[in-house]
Amino acid sequence: MSNIAIYEQIKELKEALEVSIVAHYYQKNEVFEMADFTGDSLQLAQWAAKDNKPNLIFCGVGFMGQSVKLLAPKKRVLMPKIACCAMARMIDEVQYDNSVKALNEAGITNEEIMPITYINSSAQVKARVGKMGGMVCTSSNAKIIIKEALKSGKKILFIPDRCLGQNIARDMGLKSKVIGLDSDLKDADILCYNGFCSVHQLFEVSDVKFYKENFPNIKIVTHPECKPEVCEISDFVGSTAQMIKYIKSLPLETPVAVGTEYNLVKRLREKNTYVLSSTKPQCPTMNETTLKDLHNTLISLKDKDFSSEVLIDEDVRHWANIALKRMFEL
Ligand code: 13P
Ligand code: SF4
Repeated sequence: MSNIAIYEQIKELKEALEVSIVAHYYQKNEVFEMADFTGDSLQLAQWAAKDNKPNLIFCGVGFMGQSVKLLAPKKRVLMPKIACCAMARMIDEVQYDNSVKALNEAGITNEEIMPITYINSSAQVKARVGKMGGMVCTSSNAKIIIKEALKSGKKILFIPDRCLGQNIARDMGLKSKVIGLDSDLKDADILCYNGFCSVHQLFEVSDVKFYKENFPNIKIVTHPECKPEVCEISDFVGSTAQMIKYIKSLPLETPVAVGTEYNLVKRLREKNTYVLSSTKPQCPTMNETTLKDLHNTLISLKDKDFSSEVLIDEDVRHWANIALKRMFEL
């Protein structure tokens, strides 16, 4: 079957089955083009939760589909590939409990800890955070959430991305330490779990230097999941949506080198836009979903085969939702 024939069938099935399709910015073009709505993880969750169709096909990674299910539990959320973000996979409930234990052993009691989880984490980990009085953040609002959380007088346990935690600490003039790597944990405001994004780790200080030397007016734009030493010498650091807004505000003649996922960078603008790396920074799990998978998911829905549905245990949903709602309240 040709891609054109698949496109047509997808459109027909979508109408007949009362289903919306959403796709994250990092998805392949063939999938991205079929979506009713595209955006970053927060925009997708908010749009999908308000959409009035009973069925949703989420093209992205596991924690993003789970976020919609947390916000709209009655909606049937299907994922063509239940691909798990490599960073989210770095922490499960046991590793979360062990991190709290490590803080206790360093002389920090549970009452002195305010856990904050980046949205890139499983519903089970979000539930642990919710139960401990903590909340979720995204890369767009992490600074605001941390600022509010610090008003409690507690130390922040920031999971799972150490780079996001370190970048925000530097930006806010706070001290951060990484659990398991640094000593004297008591002497820090933000205690980071030792997780990271393998894609955003690809961007190096040498890449920034290369572009600055070869393109005198270039703007270096990076995501806060990049290494702190790279963010420190960037012209702009921001979440996916913030980077897009900043780059679109620049004259097309101003060259930019962008440190984030390849599919997004390639779609940004027609010219003067470079990937800040000699290695192709493609997110393997985001790229798992193909047009054929999307088509097959619609056919399964028509056949009432719900094997790709996102399901969350009720107790986990309850506590994870509390952590997520605390973020929205702020
Ligand atoms: P956004 O929250 O900006 O969509 O990013 C998610 C992500 O996985 C970044 O690598
Ligand atoms: Fe996860 Fe990194 Fe992929 Fe984003 S780019 S989904 S953080 S592995």
